[in-house]
Amino acid sequence: MKKKILIANWKLNPLSLVQAKALLSAVNKTKSKHEVVICPPYVYIGLLKTKFKLGVQDLFWQDSGAYTGQISGPMLKEFNAKYAIIGHSELRAIGESDHEINLKLQAALRNKIIPILCVGYGVTASDTEEDILFNIQSQLANGLEDISKENLSKIIVAYEPVWAIGTGKAADPEHAERVAMFIKIKFKISKVLYGGSSNADNAKSFLEKSHIDGLLIGGASLIAEDFKKIISI
Ligand code: PGA
Repeated sequence: MKKKILIANWKLNPLSLVQAKALLSAVNKTKSKHEVVICPPYVYIGLLKTKFKLGVQDLFWQDSGAYTGQISGPMLKEFNAKYAIIGHSELRAIGESDHEINLKLQAALRNKIIPILCVGYGVTASDTEEDILFNIQSQLANGLEDISKENLSKIIVAYEPVWAIGTGKAADPEHAERVAMFIKIKFKISKVLYGGSSNADNAKSFLEKSHIDGLLIGGASLIAEDFKKIISI
């Protein structure tokens, strides 16, 4: 298996720095041949030590100014954030638009942070593959508007069918592989990840697929033993 990208999306967890450090130190001891990226809540990022890469779960589209409550690319760079998840369905669900996502992608690229653009919001388990492709095509076309060809090659896309996120029901790896191929061919994207209830039991079936370049892992990244199993595949 070639080297894959395994992103831990801790979301709004754990609740204390002590717990965050304990989770990371359990994981730190594990060897991995993959690019492992830990995306903790912002407040922990400068306080965690890891041999793996660090990422964040969002970033603001302006670099500085009168924007109360926001965190920007230059600040995140200082704390070694190499990746930023952008357009996660949990943010789209509370109103984040394709236009805002596009601005955030540009901010990440401007600050040399690798964006992981999530698509799959609005997709339901009963949708046909045709409906799903139609839906994500619109998210990609709007999200990637005016992004140069050179920058497109730096963006990672994560296909996350929203019905699979946090539900324990992952998508069929064959389906995810077809969607990944579609995204690569249609949008000139070089790396596509799968996300949505990936875990220690099903991770290999996704990672074996040649067009799936890695996983965006939520729940299973908070369980040290499970995450260790995934990164040691
Ligand atoms: P999950 O979350 O692995 O808990 O389904 C994935 C994600 O939301 O990125």
